[in-house]
Amino acid sequence: MSDVSKSIKFYSGEDIPLELHKVRIVQKLHLVPVERRLEALYEAGFNTFRLDTKDVFLDMLTDSGTNAMSDRQLGAMMIADDAYAGSQSFVRYQKAVEDVLGKKYLLPVHQGRAAENIISNAYVRKGSVVPMNYHFTTAMAHITQYGGRIEELLYDEAYVIRSRHPFKGNMNLEKLEECIKKHGASNIPFIRMEASTNLIGGQPFSIENLRAVHAIAGKYGIRLVLDASLLGENAWLVKQREEEFKNKSMGEIILEMTGMADLIYFSARKLSSSRGGGICTNNEKIFKELEPLVPLFEGFLTYGGMSVREIEAIAVGLYETLDEGMICQSPQFIEYLVNALDSKGVPVVTPAGVLGCHIDAMNICSHIPQTQYPAGAFAAAFYLISGVRGMERGSVSNQRDEYGNETYADMELLRLAIPRRVFTLSQIKYVEDRILWLYENRHLIGGLKFIYEPPVLRFFMGGLEPVDDWAQKLLAKFREDFGDSL
Ligand SMILES: Cc1ncc(COP(=O)(O)O)c(C=O)c1O
Repeated sequence: MSDVSKSIKFYSGEDIPLELHKVRIVQKLHLVPVERRLEALYEAGFNTFRLDTKDVFLDMLTDSGTNAMSDRQLGAMMIADDAYAGSQSFVRYQKAVEDVLGKKYLLPVHQGRAAENIISNAYVRKGSVVPMNYHFTTAMAHITQYGGRIEELLYDEAYVIRSRHPFKGNMNLEKLEECIKKHGASNIPFIRMEASTNLIGGQPFSIENLRAVHAIAGKYGIRLVLDASLLGENAWLVKQREEEFKNKSMGEIILEMTGMADLIYFSARKLSSSRGGGICTNNEKIFKELEPLVPLFEGFLTYGGMSVREIEAIAVGLYETLDEGMICQSPQFIEYLVNALDSKGVPVVTPAGVLGCHIDAMNICSHIPQTQYPAGAFAAAFYLISGVRGMERGSVSNQRDEYGNETYADMELLRLAIPRRVFTLSQIKYVEDRILWLYENRHLIGGLKFIYEPPVLRFFMGGLEPVDDWAQKLLAKFREDFGDSL
């Protein structure tokens, strides 16, 4: 294995992820008592998005904008060039995009979903169909907002929770051909490939698969769009799992992937450990089609709604994505937690992917019907007994269909995000310990119901409540087992 931190062996034979960085700025954390956590849950409508961080111990909601930044990024932010137009910070951003992603035209946007808005505005019309390996919440919301719909074309293996398949994010090639033949290429504005498919457990696709998708897109003259928000980790897993690439550098692998996309967009909150986003291409026509939308929705073409400090941090962060010793940190911590839980019988998505550890609430809470949101309930219960905030990735995160009916998610997952270089191993062990306790006491967890449901992206601000007094009973059991522990 060409794994940088694992190439350092322990005399004891222990196999643990070793941090290849030191901590120089820290933030104090608090663990409020379990009774306060129950109050906080009621205040937040049993929705972890609505918790205040003053009530959160380990914040594993997301990796978005929460990855640790490097000394070099912070240093670069101090020398940013403040200008409405023509900022040299933007020139450095352009150069980084060209060097790392191989694309010469760059449009800045304030975050990933802004790119999705612009691309959907330009290309999606009523009746459009957008095939993709799997949807991401905001990508789907923008496509449907402009009258289109999506088709998710994964292989069956992608939905198998305990699997050894190295590339569960692969696009199903037969289904892609069928989809194009059924709807006609003219109704398909683009094919979207999401690197490290977020909602099915951060699962990567292979370059072999991307090559095949690229060939099909070319055959029918359809644009290939790459959501590169988690590209670095996908590339790192390609290096670990795809024979052809095991001796290639991160830079070579990334360019191999980006070279096939007509259009790339990304959330820099994820891709380069900072803020902001971007759209890039080598195709001048595409660039010209999207360009006018940036000043309309985002800001002038050399800042796109971002501060120049953020732009400097993105540029440095893009180069750092090429550093295996940096990019391996999050997936290795995830692998550690996934394997620890898996070995003790807790159902988790395997193989370990990127972004976080994904726990199978559908299985753990099989006594809770999907109509009562098992993943939402498990996320709330886990916060209650640990102070750790994860994110529901199940039916609460789904949107209703065009007739207002519930659409139930394929998977009901609790995602515990492990952002890059943020948590220590003892904190990960605390998470493992509390998940094991909750797993033992899973029969005490009950369902949830909506008391306030926003029409769009309901998971962000929606409010729920328990169907009965299960949260109080869970708290009582916690006190019984842990005494006066926080
Ligand atoms: C794969 C993927 N695409 C797009 C986005 C949207 O990016 P942002 O949150 O910056 O709007 C995200 C955010 O988590 C994501 O994971």
